[in-house]
Amino acid sequence: MRAVTLTNIYLHPITQKYVRRSGMAHAISVAYHAYDLAIKYGVNPDLAAKAGFLHDIGHYEWYSEGKWDYRLYREYDIHPIKGAERAHKLLVRLGEDKHVAKEIAHAILFHTDSALPTGEFQFTPLQKVVHLADESDKEPGNKHHYRNMDREKELYLIAELDKKIDAAISNDGKSS
Ligand SMILES: [Fe+2]
Ligand SMILES: [Fe+2]
Repeated sequence: MRAVTLTNIYLHPITQKYVRRSGMAHAISVAYHAYDLAIKYGVNPDLAAKAGFLHDIGHYEWYSEGKWDYRLYREYDIHPIKGAERAHKLLVRLGEDKHVAKEIAHAILFHTDSALPTGEFQFTPLQKVVHLADESDKEPGNKHHYRNMDREKELYLIAELDKKIDAAISNDGKSS
């Protein structure tokens, strides 16, 4: 039994405020990609899906008049840093295990290079999965931040992914 589900996270007002800002449809799609990649690479699917869902929770004023401004974004962006902190606080508040919250926060911090100095880094499998999941959902012109779906469908997809994670975790327990 997981301490915190994706549904718990989705329903929280902090998620509704900040994840919706950079695109709820993108967040849900990245959570699904992260789940699939986690299964493929033997990473914990619960952590991967949560980090995928929350990876862009740190976005703030990267747009002007509601439109993406890529030049401004690249110049001033620290959304991985803000996101790591915001997601960590939210997860701990919801009752998440503190080690899990830390791993998810790190995966968010490293999901894109805008918070990193240049150089070679050794990423954990979870961090690689979350980065790849985000890349899989990107669209030219940053259109992935503007995709929409109705809220009923959002909640349905989140609840379905919770079921997939529960099933994967209980199967894993049986095989080991
Ligand atoms: Fe991002
Ligand atoms: Fe993203």
